[in-house]
Amino acid sequence: MAESILRNDPNTIVCEHPLCQENLSIIRDKNTTAEVFRNAIRRLTYLLLYTATEDLETEETTTITPIAECKTQILRRDIKIILAPILRAGLIFSDIASDILPNASIRHIGMYRDEKSLKPVWYYDKTPIMFDNPEKTVVFILDPMIATGNSGLDCIKLFVGKRIPVKNIRFVSLISAPEGLEKIRSYYPEVKITTAHIDETLSKTGYIIPGLGDAGDRIFNTLGD
Ligand code: URA
Repeated sequence: MAESILRNDPNTIVCEHPLCQENLSIIRDKNTTAEVFRNAIRRLTYLLLYTATEDLETEETTTITPIAECKTQILRRDIKIILAPILRAGLIFSDIASDILPNASIRHIGMYRDEKSLKPVWYYDKTPIMFDNPEKTVVFILDPMIATGNSGLDCIKLFVGKRIPVKNIRFVSLISAPEGLEKIRSYYPEVKITTAHIDETLSKTGYIIPGLGDAGDRIFNTLGD
């Protein structure tokens, strides 16, 4: 039910590309090694970012090929792009995302989840006190899992508090729980969320079901610590 509501939401984009689903299957598998897990997420990053950036604005320029002059389209140079990976699992997105968006600034956000309250605890914030030109800044928050939605929501609030227009804030995740999406939506319906899948629900301990387990532990090979 929740999934179908979210599926009708124009700002929640589920990347149903067959290559997305193929790689999602790899990362869900509990027998996938950390190396294979990381590589599958890197491939997913291309696919998700391709979808999440498809409405970035372009401007015309003149380019001289070896044969002739022609008009070409480039990303608008007056728009500043920010990549905001939420540590630690969001780091897996940042290398590929910064390859795709080479002029982007990377602004790390450090949060961990308090295991009892499931609320995010901040420990790092590499954002400036204020952005120079917030109206012309587009932010991509990168976090593989939208579970309760609490950390994502706090992160969006951080950027909104620094005058970034809500319509300029985007979220990229691998797997999302309906509960987390709905929480974010109830505050910020305009934030565009790109995800590879909306799963069934959340467990009492805040894990996505069926999900893929703890993304950070699987990426950094720290399972069982
Ligand atoms: N974070 C994870 O890494 N996995 C979940 O299932 C939920 C939050």
